[in-house]
Amino acid sequence: MQFVIVLVLIAGIIATLAVDEFPGPLERCHFGNETCYVEQAQNFFRAFKSGIPDRGVASLEPIDLGTLRVESGGHSASLQFNLLMTDAKLYNLANSVVVKSLKGFTKDFSKPLKLVLMLYMPDLEVRAKYDVNGKILILPIVSTGDIVIKLSQVQAKLRIVADPVKRGHGDGDGHTYLNITDFKTVTKVKEGNFTLSNLFSDNRELRESTLKVLNDEWDALAADIQPKINEACDRSFRAILQHLWDNIPYEEFFDSESSIIHTGKKAMKS
Ligand SMILES: *[C@@H]1O[C@H](CO)[C@@H](O)[C@H](O)[C@H]1NC(C)=O
Ligand SMILES: *[C@@H]1O[C@H](CO)[C@@H](O)[C@H](O)[C@H]1NC(C)=O
Ligand SMILES: *[C@@H]1O[C@H](CO)[C@@H](O)[C@H](O)[C@H]1NC(C)=O
Repeated sequence: MQFVIVLVLIAGIIATLAVDEFPGPLERCHFGNETCYVEQAQNFFRAFKSGIPDRGVASLEPIDLGTLRVESGGHSASLQFNLLMTDAKLYNLANSVVVKSLKGFTKDFSKPLKLVLMLYMPDLEVRAKYDVNGKILILPIVSTGDIVIKLSQVQAKLRIVADPVKRGHGDGDGHTYLNITDFKTVTKVKEGNFTLSNLFSDNRELRESTLKVLNDEWDALAADIQPKINEACDRSFRAILQHLWDNIPYEEFFDSESSIIHTGKKAMKS
């Protein structure tokens, strides 16, 4: 009898202590239910467009990309340039992204988690201040102004590696949190184009013919610029995800019927 009372007491204390830090409207998934993972990833983009200020999660709409430096890498003989883009922002990702798949969750906390996230974005826009110095054909081009890069039908594959790190009972809560150690995106862009303001501002024809040359050389330009955009996105997106994960124990991603195996650690009694 006393034993039962003790159990009830313990259960009560545990229930009170249990941290429910899960940020609504995200919902827990049953472990292994990929339909649910995809729905929740989609939910994440939709729900946290303006970030989660009280958890230090930055905005997703737009995503701040900071400064990008691009040098032409010889993909086109007619283009040579150094391009500096500052205060760059990526628009329309959270608004339009379609999560195609999310795979790789595991219950085994003894090795790094390797997630693969496939996304489709019908149209994205990068806006920045630009400063360019170079040559188009034989024409010197030295200019500053605003740049808009449109990217359409973008397919992205994100590979995220994260270490499960247990926060000890001394300085933490004993839960396991994910610490991102690698974050890499590859993209395929169907088409895109550039607009630069203030290019030969005094000469409209020259500006338009220059933009035409630039856009005819889209593939060569994209080969130089796209990797820099991806790197900047990786940096920003990694920080956003890490801040989110800093706040949610990995165990909390899944519903209570998804028993998590703490390999090498004491298993939770059920
Ligand atoms: C998987 O998740 C989806 C979406 O949350 C849900 O509708 C479905 O019932 C789940 N399937 C199983 C087998 O639990
Ligand atoms: C998290 O990973 C970074 C490398 O990405 C590493 O520098 C840091 O020490 C790790 N933190 C913990 C708590 O393991
Ligand atoms: C640039 O690309 C976007 C998206 O593909 C398209 O809607 C727009 O018409 C294009 N603009 C030019 C000038 O080609």
